[in-house]
Amino acid sequence: MNSETIADNDLVQEILQLKADKNAVILAHYYQIPEIQDVADYVGDSLGLSQEAAKTDADIIVFAGVHFMAETAKIINPNKKVLLPDLDAGCSLAESAPTEAFENFIKQYPNHKVITYINCSAEVKALSDITCTSSNAIKVVNSYPKDQPIIFAPDKNLGKYVAKQTGRDLVLWDGACVVHEAFSMEKLLSIYKEHPKAEIVAHPESESHILKIAHYIGSTSQMLDYINNSSKSTFIIATEAGILHQIQQQVGNKTLIPAPSKEDNTCSCSECIYMKMNTMQKLRDCLKFGYPEVDVPEKIRIKAKLPIERMLALSKK
Ligand code: 13P
Ligand code: SF4
Repeated sequence: MNSETIADNDLVQEILQLKADKNAVILAHYYQIPEIQDVADYVGDSLGLSQEAAKTDADIIVFAGVHFMAETAKIINPNKKVLLPDLDAGCSLAESAPTEAFENFIKQYPNHKVITYINCSAEVKALSDITCTSSNAIKVVNSYPKDQPIIFAPDKNLGKYVAKQTGRDLVLWDGACVVHEAFSMEKLLSIYKEHPKAEIVAHPESESHILKIAHYIGSTSQMLDYINNSSKSTFIIATEAGILHQIQQQVGNKTLIPAPSKEDNTCSCSECIYMKMNTMQKLRDCLKFGYPEVDVPEKIRIKAKLPIERMLALSKK
């Protein structure tokens, strides 16, 4: 065992001890670094994480994810302390919908219901009728009568996919995820040529030309379940590469290939810079010092709670 491994083990032990001493729970998204996923109490997709946040009896929620996720946990748990290891861990989708511009946008469609993907700020949630995640977006849209006009925001790629699946004409906000828009079709097809028996599994935040060639489309958890239950042995995975760690642990001997991005010629995979801002050291420090804490102004929190609660009620297991 080298000194680095001993230090890493020390860090893991310290995190586990702090967690127990402070009655904290660590919720981690699949895009977190493997070490954080391994030390978390729960690893999941955005819906699973919100459901866990809603039912935890811990005093402190450490959200190993990005800001909108920690904010969602705070909105439904006003009396708990919610910590985010790096307060700068944002999201390109959430940033693509500034509150004032979004408010002006929805004013143009007064008779529309507003469905927002959970990847948005608390302020934008407060302007919404209901939130959704990639695993329940179709169900949420279908929960409204066919003749109900709908605004879907902020992800236009997910919006286009949901519009197609539901056969509805959704008014879309022009937002996108930088990670899921970075896949290179050319490189993806060239990998597929090398592995013609592989299946392409894609996240619906990906662009429509990628979704068109995918054998399966789903949220991160749905992708994991699909690969777990499939008889195929090779998969090309078009989402953030962090999920490969969890899939590999569950499926063992299957071959997992991250879909290549346009820019990257080194690791040939797509990584979210925001998700990767959280480190084991920052995780330890936030548990130790109770900082950085995520808070939501009460006026906004009350308004943002309702659309989240509506989504959770619709998605009860
Ligand atoms: P899900 O894990 O809910 O599929 O969302 C993916 C994502 O991009 C989260 O930021
Ligand atoms: Fe946001 Fe995309 Fe990163 Fe998810 S992967 S947090 S949607 S930028």
